[in-house]
Amino acid sequence: MSKLSVIAGKSSEDLAKKLSRKIKANLVRSEVRIFDDGESKITLNGEISKKRAIVVQSIYPPVDTNLIQALSLISKAKETSSEVIAVIPYMGYARQDREFLPGEIITMKVLGKLFKGAGASKIIVVDIHSMVGFKHFKLKTKNVSAIPEFVQYIKKLSLKNPLVVSPDQGGIQRAKEFAKELGSEYIALEKTRDRKTGRVQIKTKNIDVANRDLILVDDMISSGGSIVKATQFLKKQNCKKVYVACTHALLMNDAEKRIKKAGVTKIFSANTIPGKTSIVDISNAIAKAI
Ligand code: R5P
Repeated sequence: MSKLSVIAGKSSEDLAKKLSRKIKANLVRSEVRIFDDGESKITLNGEISKKRAIVVQSIYPPVDTNLIQALSLISKAKETSSEVIAVIPYMGYARQDREFLPGEIITMKVLGKLFKGAGASKIIVVDIHSMVGFKHFKLKTKNVSAIPEFVQYIKKLSLKNPLVVSPDQGGIQRAKEFAKELGSEYIALEKTRDRKTGRVQIKTKNIDVANRDLILVDDMISSGGSIVKATQFLKKQNCKKVYVACTHALLMNDAEKRIKKAGVTKIFSANTIPGKTSIVDISNAIAKAI
């Protein structure tokens, strides 16, 4: 019996399998049955290490279902293992990290209590929206960057005079790190979002990107609004191709179609959320963090 167990949540089965191989841990699979009323019934198949268990479960839609499954797996692991690490590759609710409008609940504060209460002593995430939410977590936290993995893919495209672009000022640090790794320049657009309607606008005026290939870098794509607006703006500035490197591709509803229609050549995302665009494997980066 290995001293390390990886418990594969249903939302991250493939990633958990890859991770278990890399860190030489025994893999414990979970079976999930969803009842008609929406409740999850989870059964674990395998023995959990008494020393250390690593629960891997991303919290993408259905968000609340995947969240309760993550907490249940942590709680079960803690019954056997003295140390439980929660690997939440995509941390749902990360954008609800402050009170933007009066009366709004900071859901990240609630999650901090839930993860600790369930029995996790450390939480590892990948490219979290912002570290502000972790202020509310009274357990060890680690944010793993997927940038080096993304840059390996982008380098294969042999882009001429590439420019890294963040669709908003909030992502400027990410764009800077990405550009440093790629050995290119970077800029950040000025984006506003109506806090009530969610409508996105690009406020940046003219920029010189003519005849350059661009890489739009973001932590996530949800409705696709940010990437669509940014691409439409950049295309008007006569850029060449626009690639999108975003860690978590939720791509809700027809987001992918709208992004392609706006003129994006290709979307690259990580396997924090499995899907058509998730070609960047981050199991190595997570293994290093463990
Ligand atoms: C915002 O600050 C984030 O970094 C993303 O740009 C945003 O959450 C993406 O959401 P959507 O695809 O709905 O515009």
